[in-house]
Amino acid sequence: MTATISSSPEDKYRGSYDGSGRESLDDLLPSSTPPLMAKKRATRSRSVLTWAAITGAAILAAILFVFAVVRALSYFGWKSDFLHGSKASVPDYFQTTTEVLPGPTKTAAIAPFLAQTNTVVFPAGTWAPNQPLQTAVPIEGNTNNSNIFQVHGHLSSYFANPVGFGVDEYPLPPGAKIAQMHLLHRHGSRYPTLQSSVSDFAAKVENLTSTGAAKWSGRLSFLQDWKYTLGAEILVARGRQELFDSGVLHYYNYGSLYNTSTKILARTTSQDRMLKSAEYFMAGFFGLEWAQNVTLEPILETFGLNNSLAGYFACENALNFRSQGGNNASRAWERVYLADATARLREFTGDYEWTVADSYNAQTLCPYETVAYGFSRWCDLFTYDEWLGFEYSIDLQFQGGSGFGSPTGRAVGIGFVEEFHARLQGHLYDLPPGATNVNHTLDTMAETFPLHQNLYLDFSHDTNIYSVLTAFGLTQFADQLPATHRLEPRNVTVSHITPFAAKMVWEVIDAPRPVKARRPDPAKGADEHYDDGGATKYVHLTLSQRTVPLGESYPECGRRSDGWCDMDTFMRILDGLLEQAKYEFSCFGNYTAIPYGNVTDASRTLLWDWTLTRDHDATPTLQSTTASLTKPASRIASITNWNAWRPPELPSHLPFRPMIRTPAQLEGAEWAMVQGSIDAELQRARHRAHLQRARVRALWRHARGGGRVREPGGAIAGSRGGWTGLGKRWVRLEGEE
Ligand SMILES: *[C@@H]1O[C@H](CO)[C@@H](O)[C@H](O)[C@H]1NC(C)=O
Ligand SMILES: *[C@@H]1O[C@H](CO)[C@@H](O)[C@H](O)[C@H]1NC(C)=O
Ligand SMILES: *[C@@H]1O[C@H](CO)[C@@H](O)[C@H](O)[C@H]1NC(C)=O
Ligand SMILES: *[C@@H]1O[C@H](CO)[C@@H](O)[C@H](O)[C@H]1NC(C)=O
Ligand SMILES: *[C@@H]1O[C@H](CO)[C@@H](O)[C@H](O)[C@H]1NC(C)=O
Ligand SMILES: *[C@@H]1O[C@H](CO)[C@@H](O)[C@H](O)[C@H]1NC(C)=O
Ligand SMILES: *[C@@H]1O[C@H](CO)[C@@H](O)[C@H](O)[C@H]1NC(C)=O
Ligand SMILES: *[C@@H]1O[C@H](CO)[C@@H](O)[C@H](O)[C@H]1NC(C)=O
Ligand SMILES: *[C@@H]1O[C@H](CO)[C@@H](O)[C@H](O)[C@H]1NC(C)=O
Ligand SMILES: *[C@@H]1O[C@H](CO)[C@@H](O)[C@H](O)[C@H]1NC(C)=O
Repeated sequence: MTATISSSPEDKYRGSYDGSGRESLDDLLPSSTPPLMAKKRATRSRSVLTWAAITGAAILAAILFVFAVVRALSYFGWKSDFLHGSKASVPDYFQTTTEVLPGPTKTAAIAPFLAQTNTVVFPAGTWAPNQPLQTAVPIEGNTNNSNIFQVHGHLSSYFANPVGFGVDEYPLPPGAKIAQMHLLHRHGSRYPTLQSSVSDFAAKVENLTSTGAAKWSGRLSFLQDWKYTLGAEILVARGRQELFDSGVLHYYNYGSLYNTSTKILARTTSQDRMLKSAEYFMAGFFGLEWAQNVTLEPILETFGLNNSLAGYFACENALNFRSQGGNNASRAWERVYLADATARLREFTGDYEWTVADSYNAQTLCPYETVAYGFSRWCDLFTYDEWLGFEYSIDLQFQGGSGFGSPTGRAVGIGFVEEFHARLQGHLYDLPPGATNVNHTLDTMAETFPLHQNLYLDFSHDTNIYSVLTAFGLTQFADQLPATHRLEPRNVTVSHITPFAAKMVWEVIDAPRPVKARRPDPAKGADEHYDDGGATKYVHLTLSQRTVPLGESYPECGRRSDGWCDMDTFMRILDGLLEQAKYEFSCFGNYTAIPYGNVTDASRTLLWDWTLTRDHDATPTLQSTTASLTKPASRIASITNWNAWRPPELPSHLPFRPMIRTPAQLEGAEWAMVQGSIDAELQRARHRAHLQRARVRALWRHARGGGRVREPGGAIAGSRGGWTGLGKRWVRLEGEE
């Protein structure tokens, strides 16, 4: 497969993501990709090879001798641990000591020396020690003593989300327990990736200095002897700390889920920073002897390989112009929010015409140098408001490149979602090859697919985790971000979703009875926490240690104050996600680029009204609409209407979701139509039927011949998934008390 990627010079100045190589794949790929083993050998140093050649004959003789002995022993019935334990017999997917496909690695040219580099002057009595980074940097306009290092998007060092996602946190109700934890973890703070534009910018600055083309003065005087000394791709010390700390954190949160008489399987990718992040985490969780507790599986990561933890590498359209809408929008936004800074800095450059791109690169160097050296001279060049603008530039990139604003957002993340789906159902991944980006070989073998564990530990990259969020259909994060001004408030804040060492945690909770949707004071007696009914399972999602209210994205889960969703409902939601991701089409379809701002989701549910059916045959525009639904470019994944019958004029390949919303529909012909349909859900339309929530639940229970109402919170809403913002708001209104 060859990459078709537009690599205009403009692209080069973007700050880089983790692993997508969206700007310049050429850096990652040799012109003809060598076989994997050859590549592994090539990473060995020349001196080792020379040494090996000289002593080769002797070693060969020794090996032949040992081999003969081992064969002789096994002839006599000995089990050969020696051979099975040797490197040669460890398959690449369990190889951790000799790295296979570690990706580019480069250490920094100098080691930090904070006493010499930190130029912050603290007025008397205000000295703030570094911990370990120096984040007490004076920033103009920072009136609230905010931390600019927490608005650096995916380049922020890990911090717990300080504002939450719209609900409070609750302890487990008495008698309930966490049965499983599924963790998807980002690697820690790193040097810039090779595609980052900051190294080109640095070369340019150094050239401007040495040739005298720029005369740095004032705020930029430090450039006179500034050198770019960062490494590339691999973890910095702060990144090691983040993962170790996270292992410790998760030990305290979930240590009891680990069954000490088992060895669990954990997965990461083969990239150096990914493998090491997983290892530091394990050291924090289990201690340095963690290899007794965990088998680590580094799944090969490079362009062209299937890997659900780096899903973009198998998705052509995620790497080309079709998914560049976010970058385009971000670039437009830079010209807005950095106009002042660019004019301001232009004063200090002599004859050189400082550009907006220079300002953006200068900003990007602040987080990178800070995590590498503890301090950076670039940070205080910008006002607090400009740092908020920087954060927003990253939100635009992620939303348009990997989120609901990207045509490939769902497709890239669906592999992990389907793995999770299979684990929850307790079986190996069983979709046909090519249905998602998982490595089919590994996912269909018990030895390499984690299953029947209480604790699942997976490691991934920022954009990939963001796409997983999208593939889950968490439309709470589907805001349409304008490229002209910062949308405030907004839900898409990458700093709170995928900073360095980000954590997405899915808990499975066993409760003895249905937990009340409106949680009582935790101190109340056990009975007050529960509704009548039998044992109930729930899922609970946290991102950056704060609960994501599932009911906001899945109305079927109800508006629960704890943000949980009951497992039965959640499993039905999971059942529909693969179809909505349209993996094949999104990743490999030949569609025209959808300009930024037009896509809100990779696929949508079309809400159709009976009057459209009535008028269809007489209305040419309606006919062209229905005809367009059969085109591949249509991103409609399913259809619904306000009734239980299928609109006959809509294409038959689209699944239909019937709707029941009035008491009359609970009987007669329409009711008969939904019998046997697991998709049927009760839709309440108060302005038509004037029903109270309790009444709807009673009717539903009656209609089903008694039994429990599935939607514990009672916010019984329309058909699941894929709503556009407009459609979602519509249904919300219908569902509001
Ligand atoms: C500071 O905090 C106040 C109160 O929370 C808020 O109204 C104001 O917008 C904040 N200012 C900045 C610059 O963040
Ligand atoms: C943002 O999240 C809140 C819950 O915190 C939710 O009510 C709101 O609908 C979300 N906004 C969008 C645009 O989805
Ligand atoms: C410095 O810039 C000049 C003019 O753009 C260019 O000709 C030269 O090759 C550059 N030198 C280096 C070392 O990059
Ligand atoms: C722990 O694992 C062992 C071996 O698989 C099993 O027999 C035991 O029941 C497990 N214990 C718990 C508490 O799950
Ligand atoms: C890891 O495994 C060892 C050997 O089975 C066991 O002694 C130890 O308690 C385990 N570590 C943790 C943190 O459970
Ligand atoms: C799946 O993983 C195996 C083992 O690491 C590897 O050899 C193979 O190339 C991978 N397949 C794909 C399609 O990525
Ligand atoms: C982004 O901009 C590039 C260059 O102008 C263009 O080729 C590409 O189609 C744009 N992508 C989207 C999704 O708008
Ligand atoms: C991914 O795996 C599928 C089969 O599972 C295969 O058809 C496809 O070629 C693989 N993709 C890449 C990029 O290797
Ligand atoms: C993709 O579609 C365009 C426009 O319809 C067409 O010109 C082009 O040849 C197609 N490319 C491929 C690879 O099919
Ligand atoms: C995108 O939106 C613009 C205006 O909002 C509209 O003119 C254009 O037709 C839309 N394009 C697509 C492909 O939906």
